[in-house]
This record gives sequence, C-alpha cells and structure tokens, in this order.
Amino acid sequence: MAFGTDKIPYLGHYKLAEEPYSLSPNPRYLYVSPTHNLALEKTSWTIAAKRGLALCFGAVGTGKTTLARELAGRLDDAPEVSYVFITNPNYPTPNQLSYLDLLNLFKEFLRNQAVEEGKTLVLIMDEAQTLTAPLLELLRQMMNYESNDQKFLQVVLFAQEEFRARLQHPRLRNLVNRAAMSSTLDTLSLAETAAMLRHRWLIAGGKEFPFTQNAVERIYGYSDGIPRTQVILAENALLAGFLAQRSGIDGTLIEQVVADRSLPDTEPALTGPVIKRRTSSGKVTSLKRRA
Ligand SMILES: Nc1ncnc2c1ncn2[C@@H]1O[C@H](COP(=O)(O)OP(=O)(O)OP(=O)(O)O)[C@@H](O)[C@H]1O
Ligand SMILES: [Mg+2]
Repeated sequence: MAFGTDKIPYLGHYKLAEEPYSLSPNPRYLYVSPTHNLALEKTSWTIAAKRGLALCFGAVGTGKTTLARELAGRLDDAPEVSYVFITNPNYPTPNQLSYLDLLNLFKEFLRNQAVEEGKTLVLIMDEAQTLTAPLLELLRQMMNYESNDQKFLQVVLFAQEEFRARLQHPRLRNLVNRAAMSSTLDTLSLAETAAMLRHRWLIAGGKEFPFTQNAVERIYGYSDGIPRTQVILAENALLAGFLAQRSGIDGTLIEQVVADRSLPDTEPALTGPVIKRRTSSGKVTSLKRRA
C-alpha cells in the first residue's frame, strides 16, 4: 500500500471525493445536532452581546474542538471581531516577561483595541481543563478589566467534564460568577447518529449512503452516542467493506469491526443484551441491543 493521502484505498470503491470519517476536527464535517447548535448559539450570543465568559463542557470525543473551530470560522466572517484561538493553554512558551508586565501589556492592548478601534476581542480556548490555577487567575484578572458599559474581553472556554468539578473551588467563585452562558454537549441519539454519518458521507462527495439501519443502530449502541467512536467505527467498516469488495455495510460487518477492534471505547457487551448509555448530564439510560 502507498502512504500518500491521495491513496486512501477505499475512495474509488465508494466513489468518494474525500474521507468521510476522518478524525480531524474539521468543522466542514460538523453535523449541527440540537446539542451542538445550542452550544454554538450560546457562545456566539455571549460574544455578540459582550457578556464576558461562556463555557462549553463535553465528555471526551463529543465535538468540543470541532465546535471551537466552527465558532472561530464564524468569527472570521465578522470584521468587527478580533479573536485568538488557543488550542492548548499549557503549551510552554518561552517568555521573559514577569506576570505583571504581561498583564499590563495585555490590558493596554485590550483597551486600545476595544476602545480606540471599537473591536470585539475574543479569546477562544480549547482544552481548558488543563488550565493551571495561576493561568485561571490570570484569566480572571484579564476579564476584570472592563469599562462601565462593556467587558473588553470575551472568553469562550471548551473543557472536558472534569473542569466543572474544579470550578467548585471557592477561589474560582469570581470566575464562575462571570459565566454568562454555560452549555454541555450531550451524546448523540440514534436518529442524530444516523444524520451525522449521512451528513459526513454527503460532504465527502458520497452518493448512496452505504450503512443499513441495522449497521447504524450497532454503531450507535457500541459508541454510547460518542461521535468520535462512531466516526472510528464507520471508517473501520468502510475499510472492511472495501477489503471484502462489498458496497453495502450491514450490522454483521459492524459486529466484526467491533470484535476486531476490541478496545474499551466500544466495550462489546459480552455479558448480556443490554448496554448502558450515559449522557453527559450523568443520566444513565439503557438500550436494548438487537440480536
Ligand atoms: N456534531 C458532529 N458532527 C460531525 N462530526 C463530529 C461531531 N461531533 C464530533 N464529531 C467528530 O468526532 C471526532 C471528535 O471530535 P472532537 O475532536 O471535536 O471532540 P472533542 O470533544 O474535542 O474531544 P476531546 O475531549 O478528546 O478533545 C472528530 O472526528 C469530529 O469530526
Ligand atoms: Mg478536543
């Protein structure tokens, strides 16, 4: 097999222009489910109304990075907005400035951009659960800087669920108080899973959607509704289908893919017909797997 990106083995077989189920958080492939839509609306509104801070939580693989990129893309279309997108706040950067120098410089910049230039300044941060206590304090101080009628800096934080627990700390009360909006990405329902897979297929240039309803149900069941796992299983199934020279993907093929993958994210139910599904709000629902 050759290793160039133009050599994805199954593209020709399925008559696709691109990979439909790549793992990269490309917003072009985002299916705007109700939960993703609500998060987009809340974060956009916080920025537009200059309310300061918006939070977006979600379990691993629910689409936070993809959504952050979608939000940034939308801000690209707004000339009055300047934004910075920090993908990993703990990435070490060499800097010789003291904390105070840095803060003062930043305040000067904020005032200049917001007051003199009339810009809406936005800081989008992904992986906010990795923010250390000093960085959170810095963030709070930056956000403290405001005039009588507006906050100079709008901040949107995307974080895994563990960050919510950290925000309980009394020392962060001041930051939490500034959160005008908070949202939580839920897992996808069965119907949303089908819509997401189909949407990505069409974006990739696909015509006839190859997954049977039964295949989609199995992908949904094994993934616990987590989009990343669904994308992985779908991609594996495409490769398996291609190797077997089949055009359709059915439930049996998904079972084979899951058994072959055999990793904890799909947790094949070896013990019984019922699997549990935990939504990001902590609720556990059960789903009967079809025999
Ligand atoms: N609504 C969606 N529509 C289409 N694809 C999605 C959607 N949500 C997630 N995905 C896909 O799932 C995968 C994981 O998404 P993403 O990397 O954005 O998740 P994450 O929440 O940032 O995960 P992590 O917690 O590991 O950082 C990506 O391939 C992404 O394209
Ligand atoms: Mg991410």
